[in-house]
Amino acid sequence: MPSGDSTPVRPCEKDEGCDGLPEQKDLRRGNWRSQGCRAGTVLLYGPARRTKATTVYPSRRRSRDMSELIPAIKQRRSVYALGKNPKVSQEEIVRTIEEVFAYMPSAYNSQSARIVVLFGDQHDLLWEIVMSTLRQRVAPEKFGRTEAKIAGFQQAFGTVLFYDDTTITEGFAQKFPAYAQNFGPWAEQANGMLQFAIWTALEDMGLGANLQHYNPLIDQRVSEVYEIPATWKLIAQMPFGEKLEAAGEKSTVPVQERMRILYDRHPEQK
Ligand SMILES: Cc1cc2nc3c(=O)[nH]c(=O)nc-3n(C[C@H](O)[C@H](O)[C@H](O)COP(=O)(O)O)c2cc1C
Repeated sequence: MPSGDSTPVRPCEKDEGCDGLPEQKDLRRGNWRSQGCRAGTVLLYGPARRTKATTVYPSRRRSRDMSELIPAIKQRRSVYALGKNPKVSQEEIVRTIEEVFAYMPSAYNSQSARIVVLFGDQHDLLWEIVMSTLRQRVAPEKFGRTEAKIAGFQQAFGTVLFYDDTTITEGFAQKFPAYAQNFGPWAEQANGMLQFAIWTALEDMGLGANLQHYNPLIDQRVSEVYEIPATWKLIAQMPFGEKLEAAGEKSTVPVQERMRILYDRHPEQK
């Protein structure tokens, strides 16, 4: 899917002399690094797979033909049976997500979307948080199904958390009062585009993924645990990994029933 060179879209704003490499930070659990220099990506590494090859520029991926876009779109599905042994490396996954993220559209080029990519223990921890949060809210007799579902997400290889940085979105709303009401919906729309693009790119790499929404129930705990700024609004969670089963059947309302194609103007049209 993504092709060509990947250059950082936003160089480090903290330090003119920054080489664009991730800011390294050892935190409580001792094993995660935050990347503060580029376009809002934060990478969290668990102890199981600590590597440092996260910023390789330019991309070494071969350039691809646009005709591969449609098959990738067709192939993307909600895959729920996910495993921890994908055929692609963690580094390649990160690189692909970075490439996709760098080229996404946003209203007024506001670039308010933020993502957090969790691997290893940090991925497991997310689903432990979801499990304990839901356990407190769902009646015990009904919890079995929820428990199995969440345990399934934990079996995946990693998770992408999708956020919007509301300081950016609100800043644009203030700057352009005539469209102030639109910036919230636009931020959600842009985030949906990003979700779809990453989902499709993961599929293109042979990975399965699905989309979950345990926000806002998990927001506070997730923010605390991963030290997410309070102004970042959690929008979606996307577990991904090795495909263990194909996606289920799905019904499709014919597109012809859902779209209109208009050509020549009718004489009565003013
Ligand atoms: C905006 C949006 C929200 C969704 N939320 C969820 C969700 O919370 N849980 C879930 O399992 N699937 C969720 N899905 C996935 C849809 O159920 C799925 O895309 C749809 O049934 C079509 O199946 P497919 O993804 O295999 O094409 C969501 C999809 C979209 C676009």
